[in-house]
Amino acid sequence: MKVVAIANQKGGVGKTTTVINLAACLGEIGQKILVVDLDPQSNCTSGLGLELTEGSSMYQALLGNVSAEELIQATPVPGVDLIPAELDLAGSEVDIARMDSYLHCLRNTLDPITNSKNQKYDFILFDCPPSLGILTMNSLSAAHSVIVPMQCEYYALEGLSVIINLINQLRDSGTNSGLGLEGIIMTMVDKRTNLSAQVINEVRNHFKDFVYDATIPRNVRLSEAPSHGIPVIAYDSLSTGAIAYREFAKEFLAKNS
Ligand SMILES: Nc1ncnc2c1ncn2[C@@H]1O[C@H](COP(=O)(O)OP(=O)(O)OP(=O)(O)O)[C@@H](O)[C@H]1O
Ligand SMILES: [Mg+2]
Repeated sequence: MKVVAIANQKGGVGKTTTVINLAACLGEIGQKILVVDLDPQSNCTSGLGLELTEGSSMYQALLGNVSAEELIQATPVPGVDLIPAELDLAGSEVDIARMDSYLHCLRNTLDPITNSKNQKYDFILFDCPPSLGILTMNSLSAAHSVIVPMQCEYYALEGLSVIINLINQLRDSGTNSGLGLEGIIMTMVDKRTNLSAQVINEVRNHFKDFVYDATIPRNVRLSEAPSHGIPVIAYDSLSTGAIAYREFAKEFLAKNS
């Protein structure tokens, strides 16, 4: 079982879209996935077709009131289970900050799942909020690796160094000595513009093989699907967005086998 955080402190770069659709595409090819929605905005929870219900988020488990396993819900998406989010998660940062070894709160909470003899999942995916607050730091401290979705725009590279440096810092300080960069996925690519091509070139020059060959185009189907609570492969299976996320899932899996 591999634990992967999908993180970027910048808002609106495609983190949630990537979590939902990577999970769905991996599920489609027979993988078992647990998604953990760690963003109080709960977009991942609603995008996977679940209602927001009080007391259902990781918050209660982080406080030690319930086990993480009790919070797991099946979703309508084949192969994909979810620990949902709801607004109460926003308050959890204050509570976690008061705890001893507060950076490892999430890792410890998930330990019965990640270290169980009966490995039910192939991958656990974390959807992180757009900040480097305590929930994101806990995700990065609990993960084996990080996927950074990066929007194809001019200033994206600057933001990228922030999260890359943080990954290195968490590893080198021993907070999470096994942490590595899983890869960078370019999102909202507009093949018609030179800018997209330039940004992709620049990121590839810096990060070489860490940049996935698959790129995610700007595609209106990807933005419509969440309002129906379904991933893009269920909403419009032949859309460019669906095809791109399938490619990405295959590449991700190939790198992990
Ligand atoms: N490839 C794409 N093409 C078109 N629209 C997209 C694409 N990817 C994401 N979107 C849309 O852009 C918006 C932001 O995407 P998303 O919610 O995935 O980003 P995020 O990084 O999770 O945002 P936040 O930081 O707020 O959590 C959403 O409305 C989403 O539907
Ligand atoms: Mg999001």
